[in-house]
Amino acid sequence: MTTATVSPAIATAGEAPASELTALAGRPLSAVTGAEIQAPLIQGGHIRYANLDYGASAPALSVVSAYLNEILPYYASVHRGAGYASQISTSVYENARNIVRDFVGGRQDDSVIFTRNTTDSLNLLAGCLPQSDGRPTGDVLYLDIEHHANLLPWQGVPHRSVVAAPTLAGTIEALRAELQQGHVSLLAVTGASNVTGEILPIRALAALAHEFGARIVVDAAQLAPHRRINISADGVDYLAFSGHKLYAPFGAGVLVGRTDWLDAGTPHLAGGGAVREARLDGVSWATGPARHEGGSPNVLGAATLARATEVIASLDQDRWHSHEAAIRSYLVDGLQKIDGVTVHQIFADSDAATGTIGVVNFSVAGYDAGLVAAYLSAEHGVGLRDGRFCAHPLLKRLGLPSGSLRASFGVGSRLEDAQRLLAGLEQLRRTGLGWDYVVDAGRWVPANDSRIYPEWAPNTPGTAGAAPCLDD
Ligand SMILES: Cc1ncc(COP(=O)(O)O)c(C=O)c1O
Repeated sequence: MTTATVSPAIATAGEAPASELTALAGRPLSAVTGAEIQAPLIQGGHIRYANLDYGASAPALSVVSAYLNEILPYYASVHRGAGYASQISTSVYENARNIVRDFVGGRQDDSVIFTRNTTDSLNLLAGCLPQSDGRPTGDVLYLDIEHHANLLPWQGVPHRSVVAAPTLAGTIEALRAELQQGHVSLLAVTGASNVTGEILPIRALAALAHEFGARIVVDAAQLAPHRRINISADGVDYLAFSGHKLYAPFGAGVLVGRTDWLDAGTPHLAGGGAVREARLDGVSWATGPARHEGGSPNVLGAATLARATEVIASLDQDRWHSHEAAIRSYLVDGLQKIDGVTVHQIFADSDAATGTIGVVNFSVAGYDAGLVAAYLSAEHGVGLRDGRFCAHPLLKRLGLPSGSLRASFGVGSRLEDAQRLLAGLEQLRRTGLGWDYVVDAGRWVPANDSRIYPEWAPNTPGTAGAAPCLDD
């Protein structure tokens, strides 16, 4: 069975001594569901699943799961019923907007629109860019480091892209130069890179956009689960994020921001609830969130997302950041000590300037990223992400056209998760793979995989979900 074989010293975050940080990072900061699930190993036996894939989808906070069970009996239609349960569901749903607005420091007159996820939120905003004579009045400007969710929606409207410079400072200057050309209505930027975890200076970027009469939207899918955001203080016009990355994996996302564009924009989902009056030959659309929330809303998704924001808001920020920073620096130090492992980052000055969230990107010389991920899962019970992270332009520019590996963690993580990853990589360097692996439907999988899923899950590992996520 796997045991940790590398113990790099913990680099101190803030002023706390290393021993305190070890104790803090040694256990989860908050309880999450599934923290103790056992993963089957290819060579036999089980081990606690080390979930280092929070950046893709984070586990539910236990408080959020309990809240879901509490409100589930009252689940009913929203905005459509006079009955007791409908009234409760409606009030929970509408109150969720206020909770989320408070969480992000929204302005009183900002709209809070519930969506499916960040992708949905940004597509919604793309339909609301100001127009004159049926044409958008300006371009959307974005960097080449963006997740596809903050890249592709803008390709359907007038847009310009900027290649990020090797430093954040240089990137701001590159954006300034482009903004100086004029005709930009919106700067679309990520709050933190989903590939490397580096945080972008959103306050400075908001000021820059405003200097040139543009607005800013921040894709906070990765930032919101790791840092408090105050859109009023930071001057952010629009913010999008997803519940499933914020410990509320029940299918809701959100777009918060200035109402004027949203009220004038194309309704995102035409249908019931989005209208003031519908006729056989026309319609008068509603304003406010209803305009974009056609159909029956995801009340449980919105409610649990709001509950998760309350839990995150109640965290002691120093402890929160120290917990994450301790795991991260332990992991980065350890990776850098392993022969052939390279840690990737985009900006040379991000550590000093803005910092990083709990995401670490790396590759292992001589091994395909997908093979390393399959090995870590099958032989060590460690789950992480491999591929191109839905950020193809960036991966290509970083010289990683066939992908890399990403370990990501959060409030439910503990130092042992990082130790397990490091131990697995150490063993790989020392003794190589302990099993045969084959490519099946585009993904590396263990050959002759006889591990079994729980009886209620449909497939055995290796055959399940065989369709490759080529967009990864
Ligand atoms: C930075 C970033 N933006 C957007 C998204 C898309 O989020 P979702 O799949 O919830 O729409 C992701 C998901 O990985 C992301 O990391």
